[in-house]
Amino acid sequence: MTTTPGQARSFPDSFVWGAATASYQIEGATTEDGRGPCIWDTFSATPGKVLDGHSGAVAADHYHRTAQDIAMMTELGLDAYRFSLAWPRIQPTGAGEFNAEGLAFYDRLIDDLLAAGIDPVVTMYHWDLPQPLEDAGGWPARDTALRFADYAQKVVESYRDRVKVWTTLNEPWCSSYLGYASGVHAPGRQDAADALAAVHHLNLAHGLAGRVVRDVLGEAGTLSLTLNLHVARPDDPSKPEDVDAARKIDGLANRVFLQPVLDGRYPADVIEDTSHLSDWSFVRDGDLVTTHTGLDVLGVNFYSTQRVRRYVPDHERTMADGHGASAASAWVGADDVEFLPQPGPHTAMGWNIDPSGMTELLTGLSRTYPDLPLMVTENGAAFADEVTAAGRVHDAERVSYVARHVDAVGQAMDAGADVRGYFVWSLMDNFEWAYGYHRRFGIVRIDYETQERIWKDSAYWYRELVRTHQIPA
Ligand code: NOJ
Repeated sequence: MTTTPGQARSFPDSFVWGAATASYQIEGATTEDGRGPCIWDTFSATPGKVLDGHSGAVAADHYHRTAQDIAMMTELGLDAYRFSLAWPRIQPTGAGEFNAEGLAFYDRLIDDLLAAGIDPVVTMYHWDLPQPLEDAGGWPARDTALRFADYAQKVVESYRDRVKVWTTLNEPWCSSYLGYASGVHAPGRQDAADALAAVHHLNLAHGLAGRVVRDVLGEAGTLSLTLNLHVARPDDPSKPEDVDAARKIDGLANRVFLQPVLDGRYPADVIEDTSHLSDWSFVRDGDLVTTHTGLDVLGVNFYSTQRVRRYVPDHERTMADGHGASAASAWVGADDVEFLPQPGPHTAMGWNIDPSGMTELLTGLSRTYPDLPLMVTENGAAFADEVTAAGRVHDAERVSYVARHVDAVGQAMDAGADVRGYFVWSLMDNFEWAYGYHRRFGIVRIDYETQERIWKDSAYWYRELVRTHQIPA
């Protein structure tokens, strides 16, 4: 990392520049070639769950356009592409039989990426749980973690010769709390105790799949887990009750996922904060040995920050959990914590823009885990893009958002954080979960009528960044 005042910040040659996507958000073809149904198919078909009833049925039609999309990545000059495997495409019912056509799709994708000189960074699970597993209890059921281990074994063995970086899960915070507590994500259940069981079974799933990666690939494999860690700051740091509110959120969002994997234990304060909801008897003997895989690299997804204080009953309650408001809270065990509105500017998601949180998060992690390499696996922004008469998208706000956050990553590296790469979210516009196609995060625009790919200014800008390893002026 070199920075001289007045000069552009530059990143090491080895720093990995990439872009990220996820299967359900871009692929479409949800009923083709033997793919089974997943919880997001069901959820989006349920009236009122996804804005305007949108679904991933067609999405960006990536399933039929991989060649074109890889050509686009080549033009962008990407070092790596982070994508996820659709479990229901590979194992349609989530148990037993594997689907040769599903496996073949990713086989070709991986081959084509490698032929283009782009490293595949694979996530095993980015929220598309096979529906039959949800019908059998979903993540609150222990068996789902065991099924995940079988699926992991199959995919790691299938692609072991070509895929080195394996991320087990993407944002288990969302899978557990948004899926089973607030219900704003699939499968849309609202039960705090179930959400906590889901937390543990996701950690267990990581542990079991992590063991597969280690057993099959040994030293040649890079084991990773991607978390959306929260930077929750106390509203008034001089007030012990506000500091305690921040501690609670840190426990429920961050430490409850980091510690079982990196330290082999659950934070005692989280168990205590949630003891009125669950006795945590789902944690069985030996589980924490299983979860304690350590990581070769931690994936960090960062978008915004939170400000919290002890709940004041008279004050209007706001949910700023970053994923939409809901009557039921995602924050089980933190009913007395209030999320305060953040000063602007905000993105189209209503999330505040605060790159200092990125630096704080990365430097904090490297202080707690000095030997743990970090990778920013998602960062980016939704804005109300407009297409000009000339067919251009002048998304200056997105360029500025990414530039400032990449600079914040550089600042963390200056302060000693071992950050190995940055993946922009997202390569292209896609299905933004409960918001459907109403939020656009891509650096490439998708015209959903024609499936045309249109480079936004941010894509041209990102290409310069990737080419020069310097933040373009
Ligand atoms: C995190 C998730 O991993 C991704 O699926 C989502 O689209 C982005 N954040 C933006 O909300």
